Amino acid sequence: MDDKIRTLLSEEEVAQRTREIAEAISRDYEGRPLHLICILKGGVFFTCELAKRISIPITMDFMSVSSYGAETVSSGIVKIVKDLDEPIEGKDVLIVEDIIDSGNTLSYLIEVLKQRNPGSIELCTLLDKPERRIKHQVKVKYTCFTVPDEFIVGYGLDYNQRYRNLPYIGIIEQQ
Ligand code: IMP
Ligand code: MG
Repeated sequence: MDDKIRTLLSEEEVAQRTREIAEAISRDYEGRPLHLICILKGGVFFTCELAKRISIPITMDFMSVSSYGAETVSSGIVKIVKDLDEPIEGKDVLIVEDIIDSGNTLSYLIEVLKQRNPGSIELCTLLDKPERRIKHQVKVKYTCFTVPDEFIVGYGLDYNQRYRNLPYIGIIEQQ
């Protein structure tokens, strides 16, 4: 029953790159309190590792969204399952995601959040799969790794809710 998983990025590679991105964020937002929004569930592992390495003051909130329909392909229709606890008006917001694939989830989310008048809103992602992008208007400020068009698991990413807890990033091999 177990899938065969090939390592794409080791725990050490992810940690090293996360440190670089956290340093860039700390420089860019120097003097501006930063509000991180973690997109559950997949973004939670990366958000924790990133937040621990950011050296400027931050606050955090969490949001959960799901797309209706297909399992491994995003449908473009997004539902807010859990909304933010706090208002974002006037805040410098950085959305933290596990992966940007078609861009459907994020393009919807950014439109919703912009209506709440944040001071600024930017995007940080662990993985970007640009070959699959449909919503080209989604601009990512910080990307840890660009990945090929394969099904990725680990470090928060799941396959039918499994493998989120893998400490590395892997590709499920075709049986
Ligand atoms: P998008 O709306 O197509 O950009 O999809 C974003 C969401 O789809 C991510 O937050 C993931 O939950 C999921 N997803 C996309 N590609 C993968 C993958 O390769 N492995 C696991 N989940 C994925
Ligand atoms: Mg996700």
